Amino acid sequence: MSCCHYYSIADDGKTESVFSVDVAAISFGPGVLREAGEQAKALGMKRVALFTEPALRKLAFFADAEKSLRDAGLDVVVYDEVRVEPTDASFKQAARFATEGRFDGYVSVGGGSVIDTAKAANLYSTHPADFLAYVNAPIGEARPVPGPLKPHIACPTTCGTGAECTGIAVFDLLEKQVKTGIASKRLKPSLALIDPSATYSLPRNVVAASGFDVLAHALESYTARPYTMRTKPGSPAARPMSQGANPWSDIGCEAALKLLGKYLQRAVNDASDHEARDNMMYAATLAGIAFGNAGVHIPHGMSYSVAGLVKDFRPEGYPQDEPMVPHGMSVIVNAPSVFRYTACACPERHLHGAACLGADTRDASNDDAGEVVAGQLIKLMKATGIPNGIGGVGYSEADVGALAAGAFAQQRLLVNSPREVGTKEIEGLYLGAMKYW
Ligand SMILES: [Fe+2]
Repeated sequence: MSCCHYYSIADDGKTESVFSVDVAAISFGPGVLREAGEQAKALGMKRVALFTEPALRKLAFFADAEKSLRDAGLDVVVYDEVRVEPTDASFKQAARFATEGRFDGYVSVGGGSVIDTAKAANLYSTHPADFLAYVNAPIGEARPVPGPLKPHIACPTTCGTGAECTGIAVFDLLEKQVKTGIASKRLKPSLALIDPSATYSLPRNVVAASGFDVLAHALESYTARPYTMRTKPGSPAARPMSQGANPWSDIGCEAALKLLGKYLQRAVNDASDHEARDNMMYAATLAGIAFGNAGVHIPHGMSYSVAGLVKDFRPEGYPQDEPMVPHGMSVIVNAPSVFRYTACACPERHLHGAACLGADTRDASNDDAGEVVAGQLIKLMKATGIPNGIGGVGYSEADVGALAAGAFAQQRLLVNSPREVGTKEIEGLYLGAMKYW
């Protein structure tokens, strides 16, 4: 049931008939962080900015990466002031560090926040510009990045964001209280060193939130508007990174969803289950590559204001000094409501996605697709301690207008949905996401 007729190419010269595959360079496996030095040298680095966050600096895997870089004879300067859930202010601070340090390469060891901060620091120190110049429209000018960046080795330590495989850097724009990003192929790290053993010490809530981010990447990319429904670009360079679902991204999405169906609960609920955590990391890699080429849609589009307008939610396992809704949590609380809405656009894909995640779809018809996929997500959310909808992270019906206004600004993501949405529909989706059980 993998929709072999899904991609029908219209012979009208106006709609897209081509998809591009941008493959990330990856080394994957326990212990791979000890190869950082040799890999950095091979990329021509001599003076390296090593990005991390304060809590990770004390951990053994960070020491392994740093030692490997120093043993390779590189001049290493550590920047450990990365903010979890970065902001325009924290990106600018990192860019100042990068500019003053005159580095010829970057290594980032951490979650998506660390990797994205290194991308931004590399961008603004290599091609200086006003901060909003490269930020996605309509919030920024979405100016193209004028040339290549310095080499960047990304070493993810959570099984989530896929940041190591994408050209996207996400942050909160403080003055507008909205999450947005910078998107360019130039931002994609030169190499990802993916060491699953870095996830063995993560708290369960962090594994749950990042695991559901992976799940959302895979299921949103799999159900995204097919690439064959976009208008043909004027030139190959104008083809967007988020080109829509395509036969190549489908492979990574399906494989990731099957791994998640098998290992997500085990990885969250038992830190000593290394087989489960290794496979979660591999699912994150597969889904990251897929969504880097296909793109996510409404659940991610809605997540930005769920995170940006946070009130006083402080999840266990995360820094407690400020309220926050972790990225994966802010995405998945919207997802059952969204997939109930989008299922009618491609019901076979929604059913197949649910089946990969472990749902019994033998007696399900296309009309059941929305309920089947929502039911399977809710089951997994309950089993892993995810909050009960957006109400569970502190929102009420009174917040729906503000949430929807923030989500509507995420047009880059919304246009990738298989079913169109306007502000009214988004308000309805937030109401439907208030409480699931
Ligand atoms: Fe995500």
